[in-house]
Amino acid sequence: MTHKSETSYGYFDDDNKEFVITSPYTPLPWINYLGNDGFYGLISNTAGGYCFYKDAKFRRLTRYRYNNVPMDSGGRYFYINDGGVIWNPGGRPSETQLDFYQCRHGLGYSKFIARKNQLQAELTVTIPLQMNAEVYKLKLTNTSKQHKRIGLFSFIEWCLWNAQTDGENFQRNLSTGEVEIDGNFLFHKTEYRERRNHYAFFTCNKDIDGFDTDRDAFIGMYNGFERPQAVDKNQSSNSVAHGWSPIASHHHKLDLAPGHSEEIVFMLGYCELEQTNKWQALNQINQSPARDLFTHVDTSQKFDHQCKRLRSYWQACLSICQVETPDVKFNRSVNIWNQYQNMVTFNMSRSASYYESGIGRGMGFRDSHQDTIGFTHIAPTAVRQRLLDLSATQKQDGSAYHQYQPLTKKGNADIGGNFNDDPMWMILGTANYIKETGDWSILDEAIPFDDNSQAESHFEHLRRAFYHIANKLGPHGLPLIGRADWNDCLNLNCYSNDPNESFQTTEHKQDSVAESLMIAGQFVLYGQEFVRLCEQLDKLQEAKIAQAHIDNMVKAVEDHGWDGQWFLRAYDANGNAIGSHKNEEGQIFIESQGFCVMAGIGIENGKAQSALDSVEKHLACDFGIVLQQPAFSRYHIELGEISSYPPGYKENAGIFCHNNPWICISETMLGRADKAMAYYQRINPIYLQDLQQTHKTEPYVYSQMIAGKDAATPGQAKNSWLTGTAAWSYYAAVQYILGVRPDYHGLIIAPCIPNEWAGFSVKRKFRQAEYHIRVHNHATDKRGLYVDGQFVEGQQIEYTKYQQTHKVDYYKSA
Ligand code: BGC
Ligand code: NOJ
Repeated sequence: MTHKSETSYGYFDDDNKEFVITSPYTPLPWINYLGNDGFYGLISNTAGGYCFYKDAKFRRLTRYRYNNVPMDSGGRYFYINDGGVIWNPGGRPSETQLDFYQCRHGLGYSKFIARKNQLQAELTVTIPLQMNAEVYKLKLTNTSKQHKRIGLFSFIEWCLWNAQTDGENFQRNLSTGEVEIDGNFLFHKTEYRERRNHYAFFTCNKDIDGFDTDRDAFIGMYNGFERPQAVDKNQSSNSVAHGWSPIASHHHKLDLAPGHSEEIVFMLGYCELEQTNKWQALNQINQSPARDLFTHVDTSQKFDHQCKRLRSYWQACLSICQVETPDVKFNRSVNIWNQYQNMVTFNMSRSASYYESGIGRGMGFRDSHQDTIGFTHIAPTAVRQRLLDLSATQKQDGSAYHQYQPLTKKGNADIGGNFNDDPMWMILGTANYIKETGDWSILDEAIPFDDNSQAESHFEHLRRAFYHIANKLGPHGLPLIGRADWNDCLNLNCYSNDPNESFQTTEHKQDSVAESLMIAGQFVLYGQEFVRLCEQLDKLQEAKIAQAHIDNMVKAVEDHGWDGQWFLRAYDANGNAIGSHKNEEGQIFIESQGFCVMAGIGIENGKAQSALDSVEKHLACDFGIVLQQPAFSRYHIELGEISSYPPGYKENAGIFCHNNPWICISETMLGRADKAMAYYQRINPIYLQDLQQTHKTEPYVYSQMIAGKDAATPGQAKNSWLTGTAAWSYYAAVQYILGVRPDYHGLIIAPCIPNEWAGFSVKRKFRQAEYHIRVHNHATDKRGLYVDGQFVEGQQIEYTKYQQTHKVDYYKSA
């Protein structure tokens, strides 16, 4: 099939905070996330995707097949049969070309507007606040002059709860599926008779003319999603699933006079029950929680009310920090989409996307900590809880589980630990939280360790994190890398020759001496933060001892971590330098340049500048900064997974976007504003609208990776949405380019902006006050900081002095 509008896929509607997609045939599925409070849905621009409750592995509600053809197959579909013409408001899976199609992805909802043969459909999909349900409002309008008799069929396919076994254990699965039907309520109760105390349901607010709950009865054994048998015949068969694949489909026969509309609300919900309260009669589930839940949206007015609540919620979230700069794209990113993505990465970590299957990875330890830096200002209470949950997965020796499962909050034994960068991220997360909120009490919270229920203060957890690194140094006095540092694919102790071994969990070299310069920089950067925390708590002796460890580390980096033009990346298990001009491939890496400079190492002696100049010279390309150069052309057993990727992809010299903001921040530390901005823009999808054919992923969110200059497809992005790039880019933009940066006692104003900007303004709610900040670039007579017209020494607005709305002016020369 060929499709119209192949080059233009949509546009930003800033007033409504929506991205409007104008073709169902985007280069990849362009998706949105629904839900904030435990019930989540992923929805593509054709209404594909799936739902789950809290844990995408253990509580998967609807089935989704990765690796499908076409890729985006399966979702929540509404089929319309209008006189034999079958179509969907989302433009797929039916193959009928629509007369008009639009998908509006907004904050927490998606709206589809479609027309075919003078029948208009408007479908709104959302997950209301604090509700364990995805809800749909479908409006059909007959815009023709003739009467229309429409067959409408809803459709979802249940997953048998455990998303992993759902795709594996068919000899069991094909016999376990159970449903229950009561009027419009189609319940999914597989395994409810035994150990599950939860069920799901799909219902609607208009009496149905039929239903199906058996997939083969609805779709037909030899049909596909594009033309289900029941829709084709315009008649459902009231099938009852016994095993096989249970689904839920309602059938409505609609009579639409010219000019008339019909509106129906549907709900896909999830209920948990007490063991003693599960049944209302023998083998009849207790329906009352489902029926209660539906009363919240069972009319169009109630549905609209929920949408309004969600809108106000987002309005409030975004109002905490709003910027106005001369660059519309910068504003759009910082004010809307980047903050939105930050919420999603915070909620999902790296668990469930169109590229993360939701079964492999739980909540990442390092990922989740980093995600908080883009999100604390929006939801400090949720961040506090997350930091403490993470703290509870730390072990007594200061090390950490690499991931935890969201349902149990227990460390994930399949992956284990020993990624030696993990513990230090705790200090970043906590310090950032305290700076934003002033809530020092978090440090006093008594938290158990994963391997010892005896609780210690959260401060003690941070202390152990610090000493886990400080006490594990290699022959050069640099931190041992363990299984890997931030770069999961630099596996210096793996030495694997067996394709059946996982690079992530295999360690053949025990007691190895492999050391990491990335962790060295990270230790100095967040170690200094640990020292500041100690000082604030008056633990001066503790601070002094910690500072001595940091000073030694700086010296070790200067003495053994400098290659002449840039920082080395590591020492391998044999003590050979990695990321050195002496290497055959992989001579310069990005991570150690970013972390050592952010830590301030070499700023005074020119090494920092030289390192960043080398980044520009060797690593920067049109689409961003690649991870290392030259790309590995063959497998290096001593380096591991990094050399398993074809050149230019992923960690093998791809643009691994997450680390680009480290360089951007480093540039601001040297005051090189134009370079910082150039790096910021290069990977930001909002600046890449003209490159959509090449870039492929959604233009409104960051992707994990963009193929680098060595790749066959440079500029092509992969793995959108769940990436640390979101939080780090936001952090770089607001705290370092605009320079509006919370600190322990106030808000710092230290902009590093391009010369051509005359200035910018920021509205920032911070602690009890609201600041209306205006930065004047190219100031002539005045210099420095003024609050409500009064000159203030330094660059910090001390929060104890201000509790209301204040006007802040900052004058700087360009
Ligand atoms: C990927 C990494 C990822 C790791 C853990 C590797 O294959 O390249 O980016 O962090 O797996 O899942
Ligand atoms: C993706 C992971 O989520 C992240 O933790 C890691 O740092 C990068 N891959 C780099 O390998």
